[in-house]
Amino acid sequence: MAGESTAAHKQSGADEPVMNRRRALAWLSSFGLFGSAILSAFSNFIFIKPRATYGQPQRFNIGKPDEYPSGTRISLDTRRVCVIREGNKVAAISITCTHLGCIVGVADTGFACPCHGSRFDQDGNVTGGPAPKPLPWYKVSLAPNGEIEIDKDVEVEPGSYLTV
Ligand code: FES
Repeated sequence: MAGESTAAHKQSGADEPVMNRRRALAWLSSFGLFGSAILSAFSNFIFIKPRATYGQPQRFNIGKPDEYPSGTRISLDTRRVCVIREGNKVAAISITCTHLGCIVGVADTGFACPCHGSRFDQDGNVTGGPAPKPLPWYKVSLAPNGEIEIDKDVEVEPGSYLTV
């Protein structure tokens, strides 16, 4: 009997460190798999999320109404918009030619494109050249700080002015 007990003790004593080592290795490999899955998901999220910016924002402020005296038609080439002020009314018309996208210039009769000769009247309607469509008008509003805000994502009916 004493011999059996010693043999069982020895056997269990010999297996215990092995089992502990196995459990530790299993735990470590599980932790490693879990960690690599989390890292992989995070890196996929970073990869999928677009980090590119596509040009300027389409909604922007252009300053206070006082900066645009009545009777002016001011082209903001970097914004590709012409600000029109008539009395207390303000509007914004695109200056991107509807033919192939050149910047049209302000002319006596409206707008003229230097690239292929398209011409537009004061309201942006096509009066000559290859341009297929009139120049769009954009939504104009007053920002909370009192500046004129233009939203190029929102086209409005030609002749839509903001009263300031
Ligand atoms: S781009 Fe203006 S006429 Fe061609």
